[in-house]
Amino acid sequence: MSKFPEPFLWGAAAAANQMEGAYDADGKGLSIMDVMTAGSKTVKRQMTESIEDGVYYPNHVAVDFYHHYKEDVALFAEMGFKCFRTSIAWSRIFPDGDELSPNPAGLQFYHDLFDECLKYGIQPVVTLSHYEMPLGLVKKYGGWRDRRVVDFFTRYCEAVFTAYKDKVKYWMTFNEMNALEFDTWRTAGIQIRPDENRMQVTYQAAHHQFVASAKAVLLGHKINPNFKIGCMTLFGRVYPETCNPLDVKAADDMMAGMLAFPDVQVRGEYPQRLLKQLDRQGVILQMEQGDLEILKKGTVDYIAFSYYNSLTQTGSRERAEKAKGNVVIGIVNSYLPSNEWGWQIDPMGLRLSMRYLYDRYQKPLFVVENGLGASDVLETDGSVHDPYRIDYLRRHIESLKAAICEDGIPTIGYTMWSCIDQVSSSTGEMKKRYGLIYVDRDDQGNGTLARTPKDSFYWYQHVIETNGEEL
Ligand code: BG6
Repeated sequence: MSKFPEPFLWGAAAAANQMEGAYDADGKGLSIMDVMTAGSKTVKRQMTESIEDGVYYPNHVAVDFYHHYKEDVALFAEMGFKCFRTSIAWSRIFPDGDELSPNPAGLQFYHDLFDECLKYGIQPVVTLSHYEMPLGLVKKYGGWRDRRVVDFFTRYCEAVFTAYKDKVKYWMTFNEMNALEFDTWRTAGIQIRPDENRMQVTYQAAHHQFVASAKAVLLGHKINPNFKIGCMTLFGRVYPETCNPLDVKAADDMMAGMLAFPDVQVRGEYPQRLLKQLDRQGVILQMEQGDLEILKKGTVDYIAFSYYNSLTQTGSRERAEKAKGNVVIGIVNSYLPSNEWGWQIDPMGLRLSMRYLYDRYQKPLFVVENGLGASDVLETDGSVHDPYRIDYLRRHIESLKAAICEDGIPTIGYTMWSCIDQVSSSTGEMKKRYGLIYVDRDDQGNGTLARTPKDSFYWYQHVIETNGEEL
């Protein structure tokens, strides 16, 4: 095969909480991201107990996709998207998380959005929980610490699977679930107290999410046997800094840590290295009878993953400069350039990551995030020139093509991050823009919210038109 397969799901990705805004519209409850303040390159985002006067919460309005979705989907269609990956805000469907029945207005919003996509032949691809859960579940139950959240999540899945069973085929359960150890708030609504065993809390929550994910797969397949339900993993191949065996082992440990999550979701059992490690750290996982069987039966259909950067690790140097990147952090790789936020750029790493994932699991892959954050400028003539983004995407798509065409890796599609500018998840900034479409909104909440296609918009349109032949 020397060409991208047809059909190939070209598109782009986004997340409800970073894009929709309308944080309290039509019965929506607060989510964990609605109480996060704005941060920056140097200032960490904080969470507040509830909404405080005088504090700016960037996700409340975000880019107001909730009220602009028709205009935005029309622009996605103009680019020729075959799919649009978004998430459902759980707190629109179950505002507090533990209600017995869903909020009809919340369900209606996604009916309308998915219908709008389908009108143009764009398949919605849906993440069930993308760094978002109802704040009510955090207040009452402590987030994913509590086993009961598995049942609330299952109820939510049942509601959305049933509602959209004829509109959505590709689903994924938890966004970047393997980021849990590094960011317990965004992934699981948990703040670790100083007196707690961090690993105990983290992996107990992970166990709950594993069971919830497997149950979602089983339930989804029952509701519509044609559903394809995947895990969503943050991944970047980890390089040893040198061939010193200590470096190689450190790199291997780091990679095994990231892959322990898809290991459970793809193979249906805990990898023995993780169990040994947890044992050494004094972690005792509370499981219910039947859990292991659920994990075994509820394995995923495909592996979705995000790729922003590769990682480099040392086991032999004490003071190596830490890199910056997407959640999981290694050391600086002196061979690679970085973006404005210090994330290292490594197109070859995408191919190497795909090889590694496919060799390990032999399941179809779906590249559901890959993109460049930059402080784009809207020119006075209304244009936005982003040659650096085009260059980044071009080189990553070349690598994707090599993985598919030369290495023969079955791949469902590619949804770059992101279709439209939205609030950065880690920093809360608008300035860190990833979109193909510029949105007039700044870090203080000023701006008209007007949309402007960037140069990358037209470039990506041509890529899709030629099915990746002309980059
Ligand atoms: C991924 C997340 O980790 O990276 C997205 O799934 C996020 O939600 C993206 O936006 C880019 O990261 P950031 O922190 O720069 O927005």
